[in-house]
Amino acid sequence: MTAQDSPDPMALRRPILHWYRDHARDLPWRRPDTSAWGVLVSEVMLQQTPVVRVEPRWREWMTRWPTPADLAAAPTADVLRAWDRLGYPRRALRLREAARAIATEHGGIVPADEQVLRALPGIGDYTAAAVASFAYRRRAVVLDTNVRRVLARAVDGQALPPPSPRRAERERAEALLPRDGAASARWNVAVMELGALVCTARSPRCAHCPIARRCAWVAAGRPADTHADRRRSQAWHGTDRQARGRVMAALREQDQLSAAEVADLWPEPGQRDRILAALVTDGLAEAERDSDGVPLAYRLPAGGAS
Ligand code: ADE
Repeated sequence: MTAQDSPDPMALRRPILHWYRDHARDLPWRRPDTSAWGVLVSEVMLQQTPVVRVEPRWREWMTRWPTPADLAAAPTADVLRAWDRLGYPRRALRLREAARAIATEHGGIVPADEQVLRALPGIGDYTAAAVASFAYRRRAVVLDTNVRRVLARAVDGQALPPPSPRRAERERAEALLPRDGAASARWNVAVMELGALVCTARSPRCAHCPIARRCAWVAAGRPADTHADRRRSQAWHGTDRQARGRVMAALREQDQLSAAEVADLWPEPGQRDRILAALVTDGLAEAERDSDGVPLAYRLPAGGAS
């Protein structure tokens, strides 16, 4: 059979589910005894960070703060140190805000309803759907970059999906989703895993793909990406992100950094002042100032426990 005589996207289901049964990674947040809180923490950590870096941090986090109420009461400096090098540390503070809302407004129970989840601080469409699906086996359309890429290729014959999901894409994913909640959760994680391990963005391993024979992109000769507006991957060296990461790493390790020590870490003064101001505004650092308001030293915020 070729892709041309297999226009039915439903034909994708069985081979992908069989492949998942044989190839899924054994990740701790996928185990059936993982709490909904564990699933929520994993999804927030995994948003911009690879699995290998998340796994040890997730284990430590769950040992230390096994329920939303535990994290809700944690001091900011502890939360930021435990987040370690996962990157984008504002996520850690948003997660604590979500934990506080869960503790105070939902009796400490992570909500199961997607709409209620979306109302929590820092929880967007993707995370809400992932928690409803993976933690509660609710039928929900989970569209992360991996799922979107697999469906863009297999069904649309496109190398990559558009920069953000459009309604038609969501409807198409919905049409493919099994009716039953548990079956749909398995489908969601299976497609995600195929995208993470085989149908990768840069070097897809089509020879190992269970749906290569049915894939519209393979049938079309694997054409290149057509989205002219796609952002190139961001250079790292010299960026504000690199500067922020370096200062945050030093703050996690030391009680405080003098202004001179920060200047050694990042010599470019304009950029240094800008990222320090942003770290303070984001609640990731505190400045100690002299009577003229000139910063003397920086530290992780002490407060935050409530
Ligand atoms: N399993 C469930 N959600 C996942 C994710 N976001 N990344 C990797 N594995 C997952």
